[in-house]
Amino acid sequence: MTAPDKTPAPALRLEGIVKTFPGVRALDDVSFEVRHGEVHALLGENGAGKSTLMKVLAGMYQPDEGRIFIEERPVTMRSPLEAKARGVVLIHQELSLAEEMSVAENIYLGELPRRSFGRVDWKTLYANAQAILDRLKCGFGPKDRVGSLSIANRQMVEIARALTVDAKAVVFDEPTASLTDAEKVVLFDIINDLKARGVGIVYISHRMDEIFTLADRISVLRDGAHRGTLIAAETDEDEVIQLMIGRKLDLSRHEREAANLGAVALRVEGLSCGSLFEDVSFEVSEGEVLGFYGLVGAGRTEIAETLFGLRQPTAGSIRIGDETVSVTSPADAIARGISLVPESRKEQGLVLGMNCRDNITLPQVGDLTSGPFVSDGAEVAIFDQYRDLLKIKTPSWRQAVGNLSGGNQQKIVIGKWLAMRPRILIVDEPTRGIDVGSKSEIHALIRDLAKSGYAVIVISSEMPEVLHVSDRIVAMYHGRITRTFDVDEVTEDNLVAAISGIGQDKVA
Ligand SMILES: Nc1ncnc2c1ncn2[C@@H]1O[C@H](COP(=O)(O)OP(=O)(O)OP(=O)(O)O)[C@@H](O)[C@H]1O
Ligand SMILES: [Mg+2]
Repeated sequence: MTAPDKTPAPALRLEGIVKTFPGVRALDDVSFEVRHGEVHALLGENGAGKSTLMKVLAGMYQPDEGRIFIEERPVTMRSPLEAKARGVVLIHQELSLAEEMSVAENIYLGELPRRSFGRVDWKTLYANAQAILDRLKCGFGPKDRVGSLSIANRQMVEIARALTVDAKAVVFDEPTASLTDAEKVVLFDIINDLKARGVGIVYISHRMDEIFTLADRISVLRDGAHRGTLIAAETDEDEVIQLMIGRKLDLSRHEREAANLGAVALRVEGLSCGSLFEDVSFEVSEGEVLGFYGLVGAGRTEIAETLFGLRQPTAGSIRIGDETVSVTSPADAIARGISLVPESRKEQGLVLGMNCRDNITLPQVGDLTSGPFVSDGAEVAIFDQYRDLLKIKTPSWRQAVGNLSGGNQQKIVIGKWLAMRPRILIVDEPTRGIDVGSKSEIHALIRDLAKSGYAVIVISSEMPEVLHVSDRIVAMYHGRITRTFDVDEVTEDNLVAAISGIGQDKVA
């Protein structure tokens, strides 16, 4: 006797969800479900409504219309704690930790174990937290202050938080954006483990390779509407992207005109900063894009921070144009024409409560007010220019940046640094968290910036990205440059070898 082939009941189901914000219909009659033991990927361009849908699911937003079912029973989710109590956990795209508190307190926030008289049971707290950190193979302890952790480690704390509940469904909203490859492996193990135990997983990411590694089904949102649900094994990247952006994307390596090089803009010789990086030499000319490729931790970000005056070198020299300089602070760097679009944009780049226009024009208010009047119109014109250039999705310049989708917030930071019109622009992981459509636009933008005379340094952990935008590529391994390639001569194998330290002694 064979059991009838029955599709398992969904762990969780959303039906006809509508959610509006002033000027934005973020979700328009969206239905979505995740089954027990399934990884259901949710895709869509920046601002498509992915995070909003999941916030409705997790009790952070109340929908205007629509219903939520857990195991086919209708429920309401009035708060995140209520959702958690029902077994639904959301791991946020934006980190939402209390920085001054310990790791353990953050993991059990709102639910600290208590003894009689309501006193916190610290011993149990630390022991429980330690067990979860062990499961995640974290290299920090339950008593560490969250504020002292790296971004990647904070992300691990967010994930640890989700593992404290006996979950029916766990939502990961772009969890890998700041993780190293090793941490990703641990995360994927955890996801597969949850899946094997029958938990329904919702996975949001802009990285197609991850989607196709993990997902059983893929649902696509576009402009707040559900555009389709596909079975991962029966579809491919092209079909998914077409659903996402409503057109085909040309991802081929563009035929590039040879760079039209101007003067050397920046020359670095024998630069070291303690053991973070050592004896680094390179130059970049006006009109050129120099890519820095290497593993997370190879020292690339630290070089950028040194050029931007955030760190002081322990040896070596920096020349800008004809002048040997010491860059003592970011203000000094900006005055010398160097801009850095940082890796962790949210922390270093934005004032979330301030509107979009002011975030972009903030650093140059000095220029705009030099006349007799503060020129509001000029600022709006600048904002409009960058909104069009970067395709920033917002109902108006008056919107607070904190209300934009994650990817659109990143575009605002990029716009802010571009608006300063630097001579030398350094971008660290320019397309992290950016959807595939905008990604190719940002790549084109970087090429255009070089063409119009900027010297551009692009730091990236994505090989297709460095190959796509760079004229030359610097490969780094453990704080040292192992090799510099012309993009025409480089092969993927050479590049992988160079960043893994293979054959490092043989090459000059
Ligand atoms: N609290 C809010 N107030 C006003 N508008 C909001 C708010 N939250 C989201 N929105 C708007 O709703 C739309 C959907 O945003 P959402 O964050 O869901 O996008 P997303 O698909 O997660 O994008 P991303 O890939 O960039 O993270 C966007 O236009 C966004 O600006
Ligand atoms: Mg989002």
